[in-house]
Amino acid sequence: VVLFGVGGVGRNVTYLLNARPGFRIVAAHSRNAALTGKDLGELAGTGPSGVKITRDRAAALAVAADVVIIATTSFLKDVYDDICSAVSAGLNVICTAEELAFPWAVDEGLANELDRLARQHQVTVLGAGLNPGFIFDALALTAAGATWNVERIAVRRVVNLSKFSATVLRRLGLGFAASEFAQLVAEGRIHGHIGFPQSMRIVANKLQVRIDRIDCRIEPLMASRVYEMPHLTVRENHSAGFVQRYAAMVDGERWFEAELIGHADPELAGFPRSDTIDILGAAPIHIEIRPGCDPQLSSTAVIANSLRRVIESAPGLVTVANLPPATPTFTLPLTLR
Ligand SMILES: NC(=O)c1ccc[n+]([C@@H]2O[C@H](COP(=O)([O-])OP(=O)(O)OC[C@H]3O[C@@H](n4cnc5c(N)ncnc54)[C@H](OP(=O)(O)O)[C@@H]3O)[C@@H](O)[C@H]2O)c1
Repeated sequence: VVLFGVGGVGRNVTYLLNARPGFRIVAAHSRNAALTGKDLGELAGTGPSGVKITRDRAAALAVAADVVIIATTSFLKDVYDDICSAVSAGLNVICTAEELAFPWAVDEGLANELDRLARQHQVTVLGAGLNPGFIFDALALTAAGATWNVERIAVRRVVNLSKFSATVLRRLGLGFAASEFAQLVAEGRIHGHIGFPQSMRIVANKLQVRIDRIDCRIEPLMASRVYEMPHLTVRENHSAGFVQRYAAMVDGERWFEAELIGHADPELAGFPRSDTIDILGAAPIHIEIRPGCDPQLSSTAVIANSLRRVIESAPGLVTVANLPPATPTFTLPLTLR
């Protein structure tokens, strides 16, 4: 495995794969100059690994490997070049960028070009993670397998955001005064969670439903106290979280609704963590996961558990709906850091 990006996800994947016989990270690339020359294992807490982090992407790709994990940013246009370089080097790709979970919705031309390039080089490109990439697409589709028909889908996630990096937290919308929050949303600089449109389109595409449009609203949850997170402190009267609602419209009706509450400490703010999926129809299904999937641990799991299925998949740009489920292979006993 070659790693692009050694932030939260990159380090967690390193830690998990260290306990997985059969998998080995052989090179790591980061744009961050402060990390150049550092030992990946030491950074990830597994002890010296002999893999030195490099800024030189081509050098990382020159090491023999099967697959690149790209865990850098959320947007298709920002990961496109990295994906193309990995594919052109003959490597499969798993990328955590939320927009890559269903990139045709973002830029059909770029998505088609990635598909063409992947087929040309006989490799597979997958956008994967927890959300999008598992809970509200792969898992929802699996659950739909036990229903007669799907009239409507409603999902809800309450998530603790405290362990994300400052970059991710600011992009999500934490740490802003109310007026600043509204302005940055209007300017497209606060995005809240990115990825519900991708999950919705993965599900709709698989169920052969045509979504007309997806509406989105986001509001801040203001702090009435100070919240100290490892990478960001939120002051009183600043956003410590947000409520985001999506509705995918089909024939003028809300067909897929999603609500996300993300917070620095959701329990303290009165929102117990959970993930729920309701598939409504003649034989409805209700799934509730309590407490909800941990954003860091479960995302890491989905990525590591996708390595085999990506390597074994037919070539092309695929979504999680095209692949068998992500499954872990034998793993040595692990303690969480
Ligand atoms: N689908 C999912 O469920 C899921 C799950 C987890 C994460 N994600 C997404 O995956 C991305 C990585 O997550 P993370 O928690 O590891 O983030 P992180 O802790 O912020 O680490 C990201 C790393 O990538 C680097 N980076 C950022 N933008 C880059 C760019 N445009 N080109 C090259 N390198 C770049 C950063 O370098 P600097 O230090 O120089 O900034 C940092 O080292 C985030 O965008 C996150 O939203 C998705």
